Amino acid sequence: MVKILAIESSCDETAAAVITDGYQLLSNVEATQIPVHQLYGGVVPEIASREHLNAVVPVVRRALLDANLALADLDAVAVTQGPGLIGSLLVGVSYAKALAFAAGLPLIAVHHLEGHINAPFLEHPELEFPYLALVVSGSHSGVALAEKPGYYKLLGQSRDDAAGEAFDKIARALGLTYPGGPAIQQAALTGEPVYDFPSAWLEGTYDFSFSGLKSAVLNFLNQKQMKGETYRVADVAASAQEAIVRVLAEKAVRAAREYERDTIVLAGGVAANQALHERVQSLAPEMRVIYPSPKFCTDNAAMIGAAALGKFARGEFADFSLNAEANLPLYFYA
Ligand code: KG4
Ligand code: ZN
Repeated sequence: MVKILAIESSCDETAAAVITDGYQLLSNVEATQIPVHQLYGGVVPEIASREHLNAVVPVVRRALLDANLALADLDAVAVTQGPGLIGSLLVGVSYAKALAFAAGLPLIAVHHLEGHINAPFLEHPELEFPYLALVVSGSHSGVALAEKPGYYKLLGQSRDDAAGEAFDKIARALGLTYPGGPAIQQAALTGEPVYDFPSAWLEGTYDFSFSGLKSAVLNFLNQKQMKGETYRVADVAASAQEAIVRVLAEKAVRAAREYERDTIVLAGGVAANQALHERVQSLAPEMRVIYPSPKFCTDNAAMIGAAALGKFARGEFADFSLNAEANLPLYFYA
């Protein structure tokens, strides 16, 4: 049975997991830095890399202990190569290389988004390619055809802010905590989408744009302040969430229909959003809509392990010259 140790350190979570065939998790450990970054309203890259350095050894040790395995029992070490914050990525990549070298194990480099796209297999091992993937995180928003393991064709992506970034920036303007997505989802529960904030439709493409929405919300808040008018944060949150969700859902469903896919997979941190699940399913009742539990939507090492299983099976190994890449190009095939 294949046993892979996977390490993820691209942003603000130091994570390690041990996974075996059939997407069975033997352990899944995470040290979150969110409380540290909350003090600053967002991720501070320099602090993030130092936190990873503190956490990586205990997190990996814990993952091996929980799995009841020694390094020598493993078949490979997998790590997120990019994209992400370079100082953060370097901690995971350097440590994974050192471990693999010391234990004489093969090294597997995983693209962070390939991890997100493969996360649904952790809870739905019966899921089969091909499917339509809506990949929405704090740094990427794209619509892709997941054709087979390792083959993802990009149909469109955000031309400016990612959907998660829009949630984070709007939440910050509303005085809500970082990360903004869960905070807006929570606030929206007691609000109504009474404000008609704009969604950029960019007709004829599967591209997104969220910077106009962010400006519209900021202008709205400034105007209200200048006029001394009050507003309900919950209503603004519900309206902003609606403006983001409707365009994501609509484009994902349109793409699935155009390319005749019967399964839509929601992936990335924003895929934890309940309004998004409901909207996609209600727009496409005939389709299977799959999304991971929230802990597998946001950054985690289990998803890196899930993608690594495929790479192990295909014999796709990295050598010890592996370097972290902040802007690792999308592996999406044309
Ligand atoms: O995938 P992820 O953990 O990190 C990146 O790869 O960027 O995504 C983080 C993003 C953040 O912008 C966060 O606000 C958003 O995912 N997010 C959500 C929710 N949970 C996390 N957005 C909307 N609704 C949520 N429930
Ligand atoms: Zn991510």
